[in-house]
Amino acid sequence: MKIITLDGPAGAGKSSTARALAHELGWYHMDTGAMYRSVALAALEQDISLENEKDLAELAASLDIHSAHGNVFLNGRNITGEIRIDRVTTATRFVADMPAVREEMKKMQRSLSKEFNLVTEGRDQGTIVFPHAELKIYLDASPAARAARRYRERVDLGDQSQTMNEILYSQIERDQGDRDRPVGAMEAAMDAIIINTDGLSLENVVKQVLEFACDRGLVSN
Ligand code: DC
Repeated sequence: MKIITLDGPAGAGKSSTARALAHELGWYHMDTGAMYRSVALAALEQDISLENEKDLAELAASLDIHSAHGNVFLNGRNITGEIRIDRVTTATRFVADMPAVREEMKKMQRSLSKEFNLVTEGRDQGTIVFPHAELKIYLDASPAARAARRYRERVDLGDQSQTMNEILYSQIERDQGDRDRPVGAMEAAMDAIIINTDGLSLENVVKQVLEFACDRGLVSN
């Protein structure tokens, strides 16, 4: 099956772009951040230590995680909202740092690619999970623009618990963790096309990616 990877830091517009692209192409949208978040939620619920790599990897291998119409399901239960709460975001970092967990997630992600054409978003999709993807995009944006986007999203959901500056500082910390991860670190693949989304509308970004997809013969125009 065909694969378009979208990697990059939080807040650069990966999710909205991936969703719109998948919709446009009729492909499966695989949100791998949501997959790591789902493992973290299950670990918290089952009281599994966030330091126990073996247990976390076994847990990851046992879960049925899939998404449909913008919702994420864990063993059939809709967990779309729960995986975004701060406690789960914090726990996800521990889970995503574990090489054995990443190995299980890679298997799960590759097996989905056997069934569906994928628009997949994450940090390591073009580098580690799908090094042979037909099209690799790395979406980036300035830290300020990304924090502003996150702030607006939270305010739209009625959450004003953090100021823009607080979001910016926690984002800097998370970026560092994502870049320094020994396995699966966030980076652009050598053959990725880098798009800086500062000042670009979603429509514009999606249009650019679709043009690259046409150039590669992935879709007809
Ligand atoms: O994209 P997100 O914020 O939902 O990702 C949640 C966490 O999972 C974040 O700390 C990065 C990590 N992640 C990862 O390590 N590898 C991926 N392919 C996707 C996300």
